Amino acid sequence: MDFFLDENGFLTSNHINFKNFSIHPLWLRERLSSENYLDQNNYQRLYEPSLLDPDIKFLKYVIEDNFLKIEFTDNSKGIFSIESLINALYSNDIIPEKKPWKNDFNTLPIYDFRSLNDDKYFSKLLSNFQELGFVIVNNTSTEEGTVIKFAEMFGPIRTTNFGKHFDVVSKPKANDLAYTSLGIKAHTDNPYRKPMPGIQILHCISNEAKGGDSSLVDGFAVAEYLKVNEPEMYEVLTTTNVLFKFVDKDIILENYGKLIELDHNNKYLQSRFSGRLDYVPYAEPLHLEKFYAARKKLYHLYESEEFELNFRLDSGMLMMFDNMRVLHGRTEYNVNTGFRHLQGCYIDHDSTEGKLRRLKSSL
Ligand code: OGA
Ligand code: ZN
Repeated sequence: MDFFLDENGFLTSNHINFKNFSIHPLWLRERLSSENYLDQNNYQRLYEPSLLDPDIKFLKYVIEDNFLKIEFTDNSKGIFSIESLINALYSNDIIPEKKPWKNDFNTLPIYDFRSLNDDKYFSKLLSNFQELGFVIVNNTSTEEGTVIKFAEMFGPIRTTNFGKHFDVVSKPKANDLAYTSLGIKAHTDNPYRKPMPGIQILHCISNEAKGGDSSLVDGFAVAEYLKVNEPEMYEVLTTTNVLFKFVDKDIILENYGKLIELDHNNKYLQSRFSGRLDYVPYAEPLHLEKFYAARKKLYHLYESEEFELNFRLDSGMLMMFDNMRVLHGRTEYNVNTGFRHLQGCYIDHDSTEGKLRRLKSSL
C-alpha cells in the first residue's frame, strides 16, 4: 500500500479503505499518542490542540509492516497502525448494531448469573444486549436488593422520585398502576422524565400468584415494520409530539416526545409508549385523525403475536432491557392466589456501552 501527498499536501492512499479520504495534517497530529502528547495513565491530551500550528504539514511518512510512521513540520512524530487509522477514519465503534427481533426466538438470550464473573461471558451478555435491547438472567438470588447489586456490576444507579430502587408489589392507593395487580400493556417506563431512564432492570423475588406473566416487544422492529408497510403512519408517529405526565402528591413531571423518535439523519433513535400517561397536544382534527389511527396501529402491533414475546419471570430471574427501545408489560395477577414481588431500578446506557468498550478495548 502506498501513501502520497495530494496537491494540497493532504495524505491520501490508493488503498481501497482510504479511497475517499484525504487526511489533514492536524487531524493526524492531534492523534499522536506517545508520552509527549498524552498522559499515559488516562490517555488525555497534555497540550491544547487549538494552539497547534494551523499551517503544519507532513514532513516524512513511511509504511512498514502495516504501520504508518510519520513526522510533521513542528518536529513531532508518531506511529499509527493502519487498522487504528481505518477505525478512526470510519469512526468505527465496537458497539454492535441493533438487530430487530420478532416473537420467533429459537432460544431466548438467557444468561447464568453464576458465570458473569467471566469477562468473556459478561462481554457476550453485553454484546447481545446491544443487539437485542434485552437479556434475561437466571440463578441470581431471591434476596431483596439483588437488583441493585446486579445493576452496580454495570455502573451507577439512576435514582428517581421512586427511590434508588422500586418495589413492584400490589399496594393500596398506589401512585402508579405498576403497584397494583392490574395487567399493564406494553409500555416504556417514565417517558415523562428528562431524560427518560435508559435501561431498566426488573428482578423477581416472588411470582407465586396466578397471572403476572411478562412481555417484551422490540420498538425498533415495529418502527422498521411501519416504515416499510405503513409509511404515512410512520411519518405521523415520527413527527407528532406527545405530552407524557406523572402526577402524585409530591411532584408533577412532564416531558414531550414522539412515539417513534428519529435522529437528524432520520435513523431510529427511540420509542415512547405509555397509554396511561400520554396526552396529545391540540392539533387540527384532520391531523389528529391520522395520528389516532397510527397510534392504534402501533398499539396493535405492540400486542400482536408477531412482535410480542411472552414469558414468565420466576423467583431468582431478572430481565434487563433498553427502556428507550424495548417495551415491557405484564398480565393481570390475582393477589389472592399468591405473593408477587419484583424489584426494579434504572441505569444509563453509558454503563452497558462503556463496560463493553472497556472489556473489548486494548487501551
Ligand atoms: C414496572 C412494570 C411490570 C411487572 O414496574 O414498570 O412495568 O411485571 N412492571 O410488574
Ligand atoms: Zn413498567
